[in-house]
Amino acid sequence: MATPLVAGNWKMNGTEEEARALLDDLLPRLAADRAGVEVALAPPFTALRTVGERIRGSGIALAAQSVHSATHGAYTGEISAGMLASLGVRYVIVGHSERRRLFHETDADVAARAAAVFQAGMVPILCVGEQESERMAGTTVDVLRRQITAGTARIPQARAETLVVAYEPVWAIGTGRTASPAQASEAHQVIRGTLTETAGDAAGAVRILYGGSVTPASAGSLLHAPGVDGALVGGASLAAESFAAIVAAAR
Ligand code: PGA
Repeated sequence: MATPLVAGNWKMNGTEEEARALLDDLLPRLAADRAGVEVALAPPFTALRTVGERIRGSGIALAAQSVHSATHGAYTGEISAGMLASLGVRYVIVGHSERRRLFHETDADVAARAAAVFQAGMVPILCVGEQESERMAGTTVDVLRRQITAGTARIPQARAETLVVAYEPVWAIGTGRTASPAQASEAHQVIRGTLTETAGDAAGAVRILYGGSVTPASAGSLLHAPGVDGALVGGASLAAESFAAIVAAAR
């Protein structure tokens, strides 16, 4: 069985001081609770160095929330994969629904970013998920298949098995509503099936996380649902107690 991955996506939260304070509270809790679970933390760009220094040697992985696909150049305000790699970043979230919706990232952008992340020696956490209207219209499977096929179109086959996918139904993100374990399992099966078509046998090794309002109360049933290999946690990753409890639930 794959080692479960629990990743905390801090989104646009945390000054350097706040990041330090959160780690002071979180790291001792994780030291006790995370055997058999891989943990990653995705602070804002401005706290990457601080968080990276604090978690060095702990086995906790550093993650970034976004990246640009170009290696360098006239892209004011953007950050390249090479810049992230040089800070010790291991995972980069690409295609988060907030990036797609608020910043107009297309499937083609997501594909280019995922490829750039691999190119720089890191691993993308490729986010996919249907909107509520799409679920109501019965098009969830089509949406997931399109996002996976497009998002993985440019990844190197030799690295495909290290890819991480996060299934995040948009209607569950930050809403306090989660998918049921059965809904999550069903979506994860669609995702793995699509990956098998695009990446062949490597699909079996890809970890597929669930994301969307994961809390200590919902984590146990979601994380142990068939086909769920971990969680991408937003709001509940901002409090040490709740994030540590979710990590413990993944064991
Ligand atoms: P949430 O966010 O846990 O606050 O719903 C999850 C995510 O957006 O990755």
